[in-house]
Amino acid sequence: SESLTVAELAKKIYREPSEIIKKLFLLGVMATINQVLDKDAIELIAGEYGVEVEEEIKIDTTDLEVYFTEDSAENLVERPSVVTIMGHVDHGKTTLLDSIRNTKVTEGEAGGITQHIGAYQVVENGKKITFLDTPGHAAFTTMRQRGAKITDITILVVAADDGVMPQTVEAINHAKAAEVPIIVAVNKMDKEAANADRVMQELTEHGLVSEAWGGDTIFVPLSAKTGEGIDNLLEMILLVGEVEEYKANPNRKAVGTVIEAQLDKGRGSVATLLVQNGTLKIGDPIVVGHTHGRVRAMVNDKGRRVKEAGPSTPVEITGLSDVPQAGDRFVVFDDEKTARQVGEARSQQALVAHRGEKSIVSLETLFEQL
Ligand code: GTP
Ligand code: MG
Repeated sequence: SESLTVAELAKKIYREPSEIIKKLFLLGVMATINQVLDKDAIELIAGEYGVEVEEEIKIDTTDLEVYFTEDSAENLVERPSVVTIMGHVDHGKTTLLDSIRNTKVTEGEAGGITQHIGAYQVVENGKKITFLDTPGHAAFTTMRQRGAKITDITILVVAADDGVMPQTVEAINHAKAAEVPIIVAVNKMDKEAANADRVMQELTEHGLVSEAWGGDTIFVPLSAKTGEGIDNLLEMILLVGEVEEYKANPNRKAVGTVIEAQLDKGRGSVATLLVQNGTLKIGDPIVVGHTHGRVRAMVNDKGRRVKEAGPSTPVEITGLSDVPQAGDRFVVFDDEKTARQVGEARSQQALVAHRGEKSIVSLETLFEQL
């Protein structure tokens, strides 16, 4: 057909009508939801989303990114910040992650046995914060490779007795490239040789100027070992969250990213997912990377079974037909049939790509042998 209404077009390209109306407005076209769009307007919008318009609108429904749609402002509510910890070897990343988890879990959720699922949540001043318990560098590498944004805030750990080191600089560059705000945790302040001023001085050379020195970078002196200063760090994370206003729509089908996954002897494929938008529920038909299934069971970071998981929540699920990879996207579908179709198409594509690589390799080997 040569014309579509805004609502029909929105449905065809998996967007909300309000998003289309907004896009049209920015392109200088005033439209309402039931307005019939002519071919030019349709092509304008399709162009914005990289969708092909021929006879029919063609959208690659096997590309999971197309389901990561924007929500209209009225459906958005505040969500917890997602935080990654980065820094040089031995500067205390693991100790800090453990220390935050231990202090907060014993305070707030007595009896909860923490289990390692690659991410955890703590509560500070009644607000949740999500920490990715995976090496920060790995998370950023995956993000850059796939263009998937996972983390909102980076905590840059710098040991006060060692100062800025090569991987400190690397971490700064990763965070800058991804446009993720940095909070500096000046760690090991309990040590005699600790010198916070030196850390501040050295970081100035990399564009991180402390607020005390007229810049806009938050520095928190702390000790991951004694716990001193950790509450302050959590408060600063909440502050950045308030300024940046991280939001999501809990009333839609879940989309997000795989934090980690493995094959478990008893439970089969087990994947930790970070829900980035929407709410994930037991029984949801889901496509995860190149695999699919139905969410059979969900366990949170405290080892408790849960029935649903909202935005910024990490949750471990079972029920997938295969093991996905860290960094893979996941999308929940309306019905099992669609999830199966998309999942099978994706697994087929992966298989073909894999065979392609293999045949090239064997051809090269063949020539070498000649
Ligand atoms: P990698 O994972 O190897 O890169 O190291 P990391 O950054 O995770 O450092 P880790 O937490 O393993 O800490 C390295 C060493 O520093 C350990 O011996 C910790 O006990 C010690 N450490 C960490 N934080 C502190 C601190 O605040 N004070 C003191 N005194 N020691 C600390
Ligand atoms: Mg470590």
